[in-house]
Amino acid sequence: MLKMSKGVDALIKLESSLAGLYATLFRLSYFGINAKTVFQKIAMDSMEHEELLRLLEKKLDEYETVMDDEVIGLCESLSEEVIKLSKEAGRMSVEKIYEKLRELEKGEELAYEIYEKYLKEAGNKNDQILVLIMQGIAEDEQLHDRLLSTIISNTRF
Ligand SMILES: [Fe+2]
Repeated sequence: MLKMSKGVDALIKLESSLAGLYATLFRLSYFGINAKTVFQKIAMDSMEHEELLRLLEKKLDEYETVMDDEVIGLCESLSEEVIKLSKEAGRMSVEKIYEKLRELEKGEELAYEIYEKYLKEAGNKNDQILVLIMQGIAEDEQLHDRLLSTIISNTRF
């Protein structure tokens, strides 16, 4: 059993694992320009999200209700799946990778829901900068979800 992270740590781990996965997929030679663009975009945004979370970690940990045990558990197991896929992607077929990505789209949805909660809490505390930053990140997650479903549905095998 892995040691559970606390609070925002689990979200940092998720963003970091996603950044690693999409950077790995970007480097695989057999994807076309559209898929590569999507992978690079998600890798760069996830890296940015991770940096912002590290900067804001103390502040976000005060919003204790957002990262409850259930959400932490979901982030942890998702991060593990993402890390596993990063390691195995180089030996997998494109079909198999897309199948996995379809499952991992739920990662973008989970992240979106978490950022929406932070956004709401920040609004309650009148922290305008945090509201705007969380709004930007949540919009990125929605875009990632749309980009992923678009390349997945446009790929025929
Ligand atoms: Fe993200």
